[in-house]
Amino acid sequence: MQHWHACSSTFARRNKRLPDSAPGAVHPGELIRDSVPGTVLPGQCFRDSSPGDFTRNFMQEREQGMTSADKKDTGTTAHAEAGQPVAMTAAELASSRHIPVLRDQVVDFARPLAAQRSPMRILDATLGLGGHSQALLEACPGAQLLGLDRDEEALALARGRLACLGFAVETRHCRFSQCAAALDSAGWESVDFALIDIGVSSLQLDEGERGFSLHADGPLDMRMDQGSGQTAADLVNTLPCEKLREIIASLGEDPMAQRIARAICEERAKGPITTTLRLADIVWHAYPKAWRAKSRHHPATRTFQALRMVVNNELGELEAFLESILARMSSGGRLCVITFHSLEDRLVKRTMRRWASGCLCPPHAPVCRCNHQPEVEILTRKPLVADAAELARNPRASSAKLRACEKCAAAHTPLTMAERT
Ligand SMILES: C[S@@+](CC[C@H](N)C(=O)[O-])C[C@H]1O[C@@H](n2cnc3c(N)ncnc32)[C@H](O)[C@@H]1O
Repeated sequence: MQHWHACSSTFARRNKRLPDSAPGAVHPGELIRDSVPGTVLPGQCFRDSSPGDFTRNFMQEREQGMTSADKKDTGTTAHAEAGQPVAMTAAELASSRHIPVLRDQVVDFARPLAAQRSPMRILDATLGLGGHSQALLEACPGAQLLGLDRDEEALALARGRLACLGFAVETRHCRFSQCAAALDSAGWESVDFALIDIGVSSLQLDEGERGFSLHADGPLDMRMDQGSGQTAADLVNTLPCEKLREIIASLGEDPMAQRIARAICEERAKGPITTTLRLADIVWHAYPKAWRAKSRHHPATRTFQALRMVVNNELGELEAFLESILARMSSGGRLCVITFHSLEDRLVKRTMRRWASGCLCPPHAPVCRCNHQPEVEILTRKPLVADAAELARNPRASSAKLRACEKCAAAHTPLTMAERT
């Protein structure tokens, strides 16, 4: 794919050249990896995005759909030599694949802080393709940003996108449950604004190879971090039938969970279920015909969602993130959480209410003994949701819910590094 390189160098060459400029960066915990590279310098734009077939497919698709007018150099895309694919910048590539949900609402919560903090420190705990990060950096001049993601392919694209636009960001390849260690490794005691936008990116959903898609065949994988953990195939081929039913019923909220689990167990007795389309087909046939006819979505949608949530321990990750982030928020700092599942939203709602509560004693206690002081003020009485215009642009925003809170000035401020050690 060398012919796609039009500026800078390949990821690999550049990775070797760029040092991690985070002062005193340490990487506690084996999963925290300074993303390769951990710091991208502004203006380091590239036109090759080596990670994965996604990029190659995309470039080929784009090439096939191109007219000669498209092939004019726009200043951001490279000249097309005869017979060669036209390259695009990382910024174009990443932004064309994922539309950030509730982006303007997130930015509205962040913007007021930019004037008060210098520099403002932003943690994007789910960097994804960098859409929210780009909007935040554009709205908050001079802000520093640390981006986390467990998906290396997404991280690489986001880094390229932000570098291309002239933003210096630090990134870490880790789970957001490890945010405290990631902040330590970046030398950040506190954060002024934190965003977590849970779920899968369109990059992950659309790529058959990643195993999340119901419509494109691929290995039944579903791991956001392809370097570790059990795959969805491991689960469907080994879990007891009752456990499968429970997962599909509780996380997928699928009324047909019993039939689906039974069908999976019958089919796997004939041979392991290893591909997405085979699983989708099994679930399709497990559904009664009349239900299939009235279902708005593919009958396997909920089963896929449930398996994905288990494979990536999504609820456990969210709980661990919420437990550790508050202590690292600066006084007056803000946290935005975007969820796509009712169980996740409930967890966020209850956690923020507990933080905002003045007393945590049992309701029947005659006097308060906990002396708990409100730690946050809730900024969203009800969760914000996408409006009709956003839904028309991005139907995937339909289940998104945004909740935000602000850390109270009186709540304890984060300990310094020295105090914590
Ligand atoms: C919905 S996308 C984020 C999109 C991003 N806000 C944007 O505008 O491009 C969610 C991202 O979170 C990542 N993710 C999900 N769970 C994670 C976890 N526990 N730790 C770190 N990253 C996670 C996924 O890999 C994915 O890239």
